[in-house]
Amino acid sequence: MRYSTALIAALAATASATTAPLPKMYTLEIAPGETIEVTEEEKFKMIDEGRHFFDITEFKDVHAAASRLFAAAPFPSTIQQNCAVKELHKKINLDRIKEQLTEYSSFHNRYFNSRYGVQAAEWLFARVNEVIEESGNPLATARLVRHTAWSQPSVIVSLPGIIRGHTVVTGCHLDSVISNDRGAGRAPGADDNGSGSMMNLEVLRAVLSDPRIADGDHRNTLEWHWYAAEESGLLGSQDIFSQYAALNMQVMAMLNQDMVGFKGRDGIERFGLVTDFTDPAQNEYLKLLIGNYTDIPYEESLCGYACSDHASANRNGYPSSFIFETPFGNHNPRIHTPNDTIEFVDFDHVFQHAKLTTAFMYELAHATFA
Ligand code: BES
Ligand code: ZN
Repeated sequence: MRYSTALIAALAATASATTAPLPKMYTLEIAPGETIEVTEEEKFKMIDEGRHFFDITEFKDVHAAASRLFAAAPFPSTIQQNCAVKELHKKINLDRIKEQLTEYSSFHNRYFNSRYGVQAAEWLFARVNEVIEESGNPLATARLVRHTAWSQPSVIVSLPGIIRGHTVVTGCHLDSVISNDRGAGRAPGADDNGSGSMMNLEVLRAVLSDPRIADGDHRNTLEWHWYAAEESGLLGSQDIFSQYAALNMQVMAMLNQDMVGFKGRDGIERFGLVTDFTDPAQNEYLKLLIGNYTDIPYEESLCGYACSDHASANRNGYPSSFIFETPFGNHNPRIHTPNDTIEFVDFDHVFQHAKLTTAFMYELAHATFA
């Protein structure tokens, strides 16, 4: 049989059309229950233009939790560990946080799909392991959490309590990015979120030094999380919390610390207590801790969208809070630029967040949630 040239050309065109790789499409939830499909380029353009969404590409089975996975556990109504927490506050070393942030923010960037982003996460993992080793705590473990869809791993430290299943988490994102030059651009991310990452490392060191913690004498499991790929759509935290939910893990409380080193454009120092995508009862509890353990007040604030990793915990049915450096809009104006450098980080303000995070972890390590 003879084929015409036209038929052969048409067959060739069909063959190449079916074998040419299609671009990966991303599923973005732009409003509750409303999704769109976009390319990666389109997705990052939306982020740079300040258009907000949940990237649920890898997590389509997770639907925004209408209620908790398990009965809401009440938070304590009083301060219970005042003396021990105040002892731990004395161990927070701001010079060490500064030294480590200098190193951490000197990675060219910590982008989720760049080799620097992977190196920075591995550097952090090495520091975390040093802290655990120096503490001599035999129960604390650290793991690099690999993600299937991108290169940068997350880091998790777990310290099992007597009631193993009840877990209290302090989380922060470890990546950085600058707008309009993703991947290649210089993104020191000193405030966003080197500040929260190095603060959480120091809080880990302080909590592990406590004698009761050293003896394993605490009810609940404590976890420190450093999430990959927050700046690309809360990806690391969504992966982790959707896995925790699939395993029916009981996260009793999650505190997100994203940007902790800037007092505010108006110079009036206070925490921003974010009330959307967070848990009202846990927020009330944080007000108690702020009043007792820190030297500054709070002001309630709204992000208006799923602006950081507390929203991933919330989406998976876990109580979460976000204590921000200042109310939304009054925050560090240099984030997502090459000028988000350590010279603009205020370590006295970092100290206030460190005091609060230490109190949250230590008080809840011993809480009965009943
Ligand atoms: N640290 C910011 C969140 C933030 C910035 C909160 C300014 C409040 C004020 C975070 O790292 C971030 O940039 N989030 C993205 C959203 C994310 C889903 C890509 C944002 O806010 O655009
Ligand atoms: Zn951030």
